[in-house]
Amino acid sequence: MDERNPMPRHVAIIMDGNGRWAEMRGLPRHEGHLRGVESVRTTVRSAVRHGVRCLTLYAFSTENWGRPADEVEGLMELFCTCVAAETPELLRQGVRIRMIGDRSRFSEKVRRHLEQAERATEACDRLTLVLALDYSARSELVHAARTLARRTAAGAITPEAIDERTVAGALWTADIPDPDLIVRTSGEQRLSNFLLWQAAYAELWFPEVLWPDFGEEEFDRALAEYARRDRRFGRLK
Ligand code: FPP
Repeated sequence: MDERNPMPRHVAIIMDGNGRWAEMRGLPRHEGHLRGVESVRTTVRSAVRHGVRCLTLYAFSTENWGRPADEVEGLMELFCTCVAAETPELLRQGVRIRMIGDRSRFSEKVRRHLEQAERATEACDRLTLVLALDYSARSELVHAARTLARRTAAGAITPEAIDERTVAGALWTADIPDPDLIVRTSGEQRLSNFLLWQAAYAELWFPEVLWPDFGEEEFDRALAEYARRDRRFGRLK
């Protein structure tokens, strides 16, 4: 079987470098996040154009709560305005919005905006845009462990019945395929608590470009790099 696949089904991106992009220009960090939204728009369009089926964007990590209050508030406001303003265009492009992460810590307003966008786009099936918000892979695994422990304690499953499929099924990404390609911008070469279980066989790509400068050409370059990789999944050719 030839594992070479020129087009990733699922691309996941750690959008890094907004702050540095702004600081390099003497602008407030929020300007970097605003420009980052432009890159989100371009990337969604590119993913649709290339026939990628799933695009996950790491928009807010659990650790991001530790940033100064005004930056966190600015990001929350940006999520609300952005999903509300973009929903008609996402519908036009056939893009379904999904959220992964712990939604319980968001304000009622933020939750309402995000859930409205999820509901409005739920029939779209060209591209699934997964927003990782208040997401951390370790919290996701803890959440999954608790779910399975509860089901075991209730007698619904035996410990022996827990296998890779049941664990994957208890994650927030239960019905989302594993990422084929994970991109992190800004030259940092770390996964930073992003999709740790799901990344088992993902190809990794770390371009130097800062997220606000990530455009169509950068996306095409990532896909070209992926097409060159030889995916063996631990087997010999
Ligand atoms: C990382 O750059 C970026 C973030 C923490 C926020 C990303 C959010 C957006 C681009 C808005 C997207 C909106 C939607 C609805 C998807 P950084 O601030 O860590 O940059 P630095 O490492 O240079 O400081």
